[in-house]
Amino acid sequence: GRKFFVGGNWKMNGTKNEIGDIIAFLKTGPLDPNAEVVVGVPAIYLTYVTSIVPGNVSVSAQNTYKVAKGAFTGEISPAMLLDNGIPWVILGHSERRNVFGETDELIAEKVAHALETGLKVIACIGEKLEEREAGKTEEVVYRQTKAIADKIKSWDNVVLAYEPVWAIGTGKTATPQQAQEVHEKLREWLSKNINSNVAQTLRIIYGGSVTAANAKDLAKEKDIDGFLVGGASLKPDFVQIVNARC
Ligand code: 13P
Repeated sequence: GRKFFVGGNWKMNGTKNEIGDIIAFLKTGPLDPNAEVVVGVPAIYLTYVTSIVPGNVSVSAQNTYKVAKGAFTGEISPAMLLDNGIPWVILGHSERRNVFGETDELIAEKVAHALETGLKVIACIGEKLEEREAGKTEEVVYRQTKAIADKIKSWDNVVLAYEPVWAIGTGKTATPQQAQEVHEKLREWLSKNINSNVAQTLRIIYGGSVTAANAKDLAKEKDIDGFLVGGASLKPDFVQIVNARC
């Protein structure tokens, strides 16, 4: 079986004070021992959070560059994360794509380099509202997945996050049926284009306005293996989302 996975993407939020509150509810939990829990932390707090986070929670960066070092002002490399004991990175988030103009190609290069360096990757995909309304959801998520598939050698250390852009930060959560449909289609695509083992073992998680109120129903769907949580990951509700299968 695929281990249930819940990531909290803090985005560009958190002071040391606020982080203290988050760490407190993570410690109090209790967190489902059958769930893998990761928090995605702003770069400047990565080592701080690593030093105070409970042992049942892992730490992730929210971005890395596609090479190990060099003249790339402002960037951080996968090697630097590993050097600081950070095991995970979120790549291809819709905000990286749409606010910072990252292309499928760049994201795929970043994912490939991060994996080759030894990081684990939460790779994000998802269609915009106008793409869904134009009936292009599958075309878009297949294209985004293929860009990554073409550049990586193994999916072993990847979690694929399906995050429809229209559901992110909008309160318009995909229904369990809408999310399940895309997750199932992605597994079909993986089966046809990679192999059946990857299709069966890759965790595909859902993101977009996940809350304590809707997580349980989403978590019942057979191809939804967990969540990537934005706003609610800053609040004690995150514990209930981690425990959605309890
Ligand atoms: P919200 O949960 O705030 O909608 O954000 C989702 C997200 O982008 C997680 O990466």
